[in-house]
Amino acid sequence: MIQKKHYRFNTQVIHAAQSSEDWQGATLPPIFQTASHLHTTAENLSQTFAGKKTDHIYMRLTNPTNRILEEKLTALEGGLGAVVMSSGMAAITNACMALLRAGDEFVTGNSLFMSTYLLFINVFKKYDITARLVESTDIEAIEKAINTKTRFVYLETIGNPKMDIPDLSRVAEIAHKHGIPLLVDSTLSTPYLCRPLDLGADVVIHSTTKYLSGHGNAVGGVVIDGGNFKWSEERFPDFQPYIERKRPLAFLDKVWREHHINFGTTQAPMHSYLTALGLDTLALRMERHMGNTLSVARYLRERPEVCWVNYPGFEDHPSHGIARKLFEDKGFGGMLTFGLKDQTACFRFIDSLRLIYHLANLGDCKTLAIHPYSSQYVSFDDAIRESLSITPDMIRLSVGIEAVEDICDDLGQAIDSLG
Ligand SMILES: Cc1ncc(COP(=O)(O)O)c(C=O)c1O
Repeated sequence: MIQKKHYRFNTQVIHAAQSSEDWQGATLPPIFQTASHLHTTAENLSQTFAGKKTDHIYMRLTNPTNRILEEKLTALEGGLGAVVMSSGMAAITNACMALLRAGDEFVTGNSLFMSTYLLFINVFKKYDITARLVESTDIEAIEKAINTKTRFVYLETIGNPKMDIPDLSRVAEIAHKHGIPLLVDSTLSTPYLCRPLDLGADVVIHSTTKYLSGHGNAVGGVVIDGGNFKWSEERFPDFQPYIERKRPLAFLDKVWREHHINFGTTQAPMHSYLTALGLDTLALRMERHMGNTLSVARYLRERPEVCWVNYPGFEDHPSHGIARKLFEDKGFGGMLTFGLKDQTACFRFIDSLRLIYHLANLGDCKTLAIHPYSSQYVSFDDAIRESLSITPDMIRLSVGIEAVEDICDDLGQAIDSLG
């Protein structure tokens, strides 16, 4: 494998973990579409099962195409190792489950993607696990919620769809002060905008379905281990066998060995290939996504029919300052929310769109709109919707990379249709 660590991000994103020697000269990762791998001797297979050799055995465990994507994403996030999985939710579930036992607690920002919220509150409850929800940007509340049962702190870099941005460096300091790791879902920021491990986080998770693959053609997730966290015997007695086996990658080994391979959350190699292909243009796409989003946000703010626009790119947004610090002035993400008069206006607006796609996804190169209150969150109680900032008047827009004039024209004609 050729490691080109000295290159800048925009070069790394294309060239990291490229290996023309092993790929017989191919410039894209070969797709190893095979359930199992041959072993020439019984001794070799035994050693591989025992973890003494890193050969491939069976696709549910590892796959060469998946490993290429794992190496690329590890390099881009500045981590020590990664496991790709069948979806972002698989990555979140496995990472959390590796840390949690019945009776445990964890602290999480309340700005969460819908399925993450349901997993944390409804599913984990069945296993006597308590998620302590606090305001994602309230550092004091995060610290106050930590107790002796807390196993980790969990945050999204940019809350979906609240668009709030927690100060990861400060939260990492607090988590470490209490001897627990910080896990970060960095789906909306991508390593182009920020690398949570550099800011002190211990584990990074992505839904690769979004910006990393970028074309709405693959579903996937990844857990990336920074390898720096010290798992104390007192707080993490269950980690000790994994430390003995894999030392700095104890967490990743636990995620993989205890959950990923037994839950069967395997990434299909075709999806890893598509994600690796999409990654080549990540930097270029993010630049355009974010430039377009800022222009669209400004355009919407000028329209009197639009009651409010929520985008951290505005100087008066509560997360603007922290976004500038964490994202080093590279931008503010490619998603925004805005308000129309009411749900009826939102429905009429969506039904009038001609260019913009109406569907449940984000981070695609096409512009996408959705009314979260009546779709992803339709079965949620009103009080919970309110706490997650899901209001009946809200449209969520994932701004694509089309000509921004065409995006604004389409938004404009749909707004005009409100009469
Ligand atoms: C922030 C965030 N995390 C995780 C997920 C889940 O990803 P997936 O759909 O790949 O399971 C999503 C999906 O929208 C998301 O927006």
